[in-house]
Amino acid sequence: MPAAELHDFAHEDLTGNALHNALRDARERGPVQPALFGGQPAFLICSHQSLAEAFRDNARFPPADAYRITIEPVQGVTFQTMEGDQHRLYRRLATPAFQSRVVEAMEQEGLARIAHELIDRLGARRSADFAHEFTHRVAFAVISRMLGIPTNREDVFRDWAVGFLEFPRDPAHSRQCADEITQYLLPILAERRQEPRDDILSGLVAAEVDERRLTDEEVLAHIRLLFSAGASTTTDALGNLIYTLLAEPERWQALLAEPALRAGAIEELLRWETPVAVLPRLSAPHAIEFHGTEIPPATFCLFAIAAANRDPSVFEQPEVFDLHRDSSKKLLSFGPGPRLCPGMHLARRQLAVALDVILERLPGLQLREREAASPRGAILRGPARLPVGW
Ligand code: HEM
Repeated sequence: MPAAELHDFAHEDLTGNALHNALRDARERGPVQPALFGGQPAFLICSHQSLAEAFRDNARFPPADAYRITIEPVQGVTFQTMEGDQHRLYRRLATPAFQSRVVEAMEQEGLARIAHELIDRLGARRSADFAHEFTHRVAFAVISRMLGIPTNREDVFRDWAVGFLEFPRDPAHSRQCADEITQYLLPILAERRQEPRDDILSGLVAAEVDERRLTDEEVLAHIRLLFSAGASTTTDALGNLIYTLLAEPERWQALLAEPALRAGAIEELLRWETPVAVLPRLSAPHAIEFHGTEIPPATFCLFAIAAANRDPSVFEQPEVFDLHRDSSKKLLSFGPGPRLCPGMHLARRQLAVALDVILERLPGLQLREREAASPRGAILRGPARLPVGW
């Protein structure tokens, strides 16, 4: 393909099959292929084998460098923008709240209650944009409640968290929202330092690194990280799940009739339409060679998770959404290696509980405008709208 026809993964939406077709074509040409990112030459890493290797190769693909450009200016310094031992140390401090045991403990009390509350708010209506009413809200509410943010300001807090994620598209708005979050949380942090509760905020203010407590700014930066890494990803995963099940109503009917299929459906969704479709990394500050390709210093390398998850050398008939497939061990959706997503238990349980509640409360859910609901986005990917009736 001539350079002029390369896709720009920072700027194009690649809605619906456009992304998967582009990634399939690239993967069929080879494991490392030229692409564009924000107008700059970049490389797609697109076979399962090459991507699994790249995720574990911190020397050629140091994970923190890209995050220092794409998120640190507004999020602050967190373990996401650290490397090596420092990354491990801070990550251990900030992630115990996401262990499977903790998540299971809050499951019925927290996760199911939030899903029921959002459906209660639909009242007597028979149609809605389900993205606006449900999928775009639930993950933000879960993180807010795990943190221990007062529920009466949850909607305002969500708007700030969404606004802060506008970085780097709208830096001024993003910074303003990050400031609002800071101003709102500072007095709550002071309260938790005085009187700890059983929530993540109290855990973070009590955490010690190198025999000292985390500063307010360190705590705030890690809270911003939870929203940037945990909220929009799970939001898009849930949107993709609802879209995929309703787009072929027999899938929805199968899950209504056979609850035992639901867990597998979620794993298959994470393979078939994963929300972090492509993850931008910067290559090392010196030239490297990877799978026979010379990569110049500090070049964007696009980790094409969505391409690896449909690699026919690993998944039989990868273009088919198969409710009976058992693929979770081979999924690259949570990024294998030292950066493996610490929120994956929470993400999976949120998806499972939300799906159970929606199937129970709105069994007759139907998609009204299929095209409008198609997942879009070449980096983070999900439906902008979900027009449904029931
Ligand atoms: C379906 C939903 C999710 C997907 C697909 C997902 C995917 C990923 C991926 C691919 C990475 C690796 C990034 C890299 O290698 O640079 C990652 C890291 C991370 N995720 Fe998730 N994630 C999800 C949900 C969550 C949730 C719910 C949380 C927490 C509330 C979370 C917190 C994090 C954090 C803190 C990191 C950084 C880990 C590190 O740098 O060591 N994620 N996630």
